[in-house]
Amino acid sequence: MSNNTTNGDVKKTQRIAVISGKGGTGKSLVTASIGFVLAHCGYKVLLVDMDLFTGGLTFFLSGLSEKPDRISRGLLDVFADKYEDKNKDNQNNCKIDKIKISHQFVDGNLFLLPSLSSRRRNVSELTISKDVSTLPQIMNILFRDVIGMEESFDYIIFDTRGGSDITSVGSALTCDKLVVVTEADKVSWDTGRILLDAIEDAWNAYCYDDPFPGVGFILNKNVLPPEGVETYLKKIWSAKHITTIPLDRDAIAYFQEDKMPIVEDISCEFSEAIVTGIGDFFDVMVGNSKISERYINLRIKAREKK
Ligand SMILES: Nc1ncnc2c1ncn2[C@@H]1O[C@H](COP(=O)(O)OP(=O)(O)OP(=O)(O)O)[C@@H](O)[C@H]1O
Ligand SMILES: [Mg+2]
Repeated sequence: MSNNTTNGDVKKTQRIAVISGKGGTGKSLVTASIGFVLAHCGYKVLLVDMDLFTGGLTFFLSGLSEKPDRISRGLLDVFADKYEDKNKDNQNNCKIDKIKISHQFVDGNLFLLPSLSSRRRNVSELTISKDVSTLPQIMNILFRDVIGMEESFDYIIFDTRGGSDITSVGSALTCDKLVVVTEADKVSWDTGRILLDAIEDAWNAYCYDDPFPGVGFILNKNVLPPEGVETYLKKIWSAKHITTIPLDRDAIAYFQEDKMPIVEDISCEFSEAIVTGIGDFFDVMVGNSKISERYINLRIKAREKK
């Protein structure tokens, strides 16, 4: 699917940041799954692993792409060289391995900007990880020097680190939509509120002219009837749209085999919930209707072909 609409207008790339107040809520998995569904529906998608600390997305997708120890340059190298090296103006500073995800359903449509590489740098040693005032510069480097050909993607989706830091707040500042992933516990909710407040503060400081991004919520790994949690979240977070994904034992088995449930098995609880959830999210938030219906039809056709 190209960016040029039939009447010749250039369609704007949608940028989405997947965030959460604490770690381990399922952000990387949600990012990878959204990317997979959209790419399978024919959209050109770039996933950006902004979790410079753990590189969860780079690891999650390594079964379909490259292991980090085979990646020569990742985002962490770009930021480190730009900020910490003496030869800051060296053109090679901005080079990165843009990795194509290889799978018959998404081939040619899904790409990853990895965070980690074989250089095994540690972000906590870099000044950029500590100084929030570097945010606008970092995001400028990312868009101007690294992504560059941004307009050729229909969607750019950022996976971030849990909590309020340069990876989550920085990504959010460049996005049209935010997806907050939460678990069903108070730590998730309270830290999620703190993160959204931090993003709002940074937005007012750097992006005050633009409207604040729309926010969608995913309640992940849920084990109890979700109604109580949904009512609570709607109250404390003013959440309008909440998607619930159950804790799924089959999905856990796939993860243990280094496989993604959304790729392997469309009918496991996790995949069903995420496809419907992404469909709802895209209908309501991004204005791209019938994503889930199209995706399920494509998967049924693929199964019939076998
Ligand atoms: N719905 C689910 N059912 C079962 N397991 C899940 C589900 N969602 C996520 N998990 C598991 O939870 C763990 C954390 O997921 P993931 O790495 O995507 O979270 P994260 O928010 O990106 O974590 P981090 O903050 O460390 O980057 C993984 O082991 C993943 O396989
Ligand atoms: Mg992660």
